[in-house]
Amino acid sequence: MDLTLKIRKFNPEEDEKPHWRTFKITADPVWKILDCLMHIKNEHDGTLTFRKSCAHGICGSDAMKINGKAALACQKLVKDYRTRKFVIEPLPGFPVIKDLVVDFDCFFEKLRKIRPWFINDEKPPADSERIQSIEQSEKILDAVKCIFCGSCASSCPTAWVNADYLGPAALLKAYRFIADSRDRGAEERLRIVNDNDGAWRCHTIFNCVEACPKDINVTDHIARLKREIFNHKL
Ligand code: SF4
Ligand code: FES
Repeated sequence: MDLTLKIRKFNPEEDEKPHWRTFKITADPVWKILDCLMHIKNEHDGTLTFRKSCAHGICGSDAMKINGKAALACQKLVKDYRTRKFVIEPLPGFPVIKDLVVDFDCFFEKLRKIRPWFINDEKPPADSERIQSIEQSEKILDAVKCIFCGSCASSCPTAWVNADYLGPAALLKAYRFIADSRDRGAEERLRIVNDNDGAWRCHTIFNCVEACPKDINVTDHIARLKREIFNHKL
């Protein structure tokens, strides 16, 4: 099938401002949008720049805006769309490094703030690992699916206007550890997210839920964080 892809391009070393370039290609309906970009890079414009790694929805590196919505280019097939015209842009809300590649430094800096590692100084049992019951593991099953693609943060109006807001991905990660029966850093993390730029900045707009390619109900997890803050009487 014949497709038209309009792609936002920007090379800060050469361009004063972003511009659009339109490509007409012939693609198979089962091609991923990522395949279309690879085809354009190989056959039409070798300078086209985008991130990708796994090509299977695992690494989170090829999140971009496709026809107005954040999505992983490797998870969307041409046939998923009714149209044969595509508009492809970098994720909004992040500085553009080149074409579809954005700067995630700020995103990962916020993640680091909530101490996204296992905190527990207690010795594990000598003859086993730290065991969780099925019920305990179910509390974090959804949250551990996050692949740090940044789609939620880039779709959040609250994050657009508050640069210091921790944002949905960092808050989700905080919940992931706070709800983990094996972790002992809950109090420490709850103090970090109990802030005007933390959980309380979320206005339950639900854009993050719609944007998440892993179908994580991020807003619900942020609401659970707020409840935990109350439960801990912080
Ligand atoms: S919560 Fe979803 S949208 Fe946000 S970073 Fe994780 S996988 Fe991506
Ligand atoms: S390339 Fe890894 S998620 Fe798309």
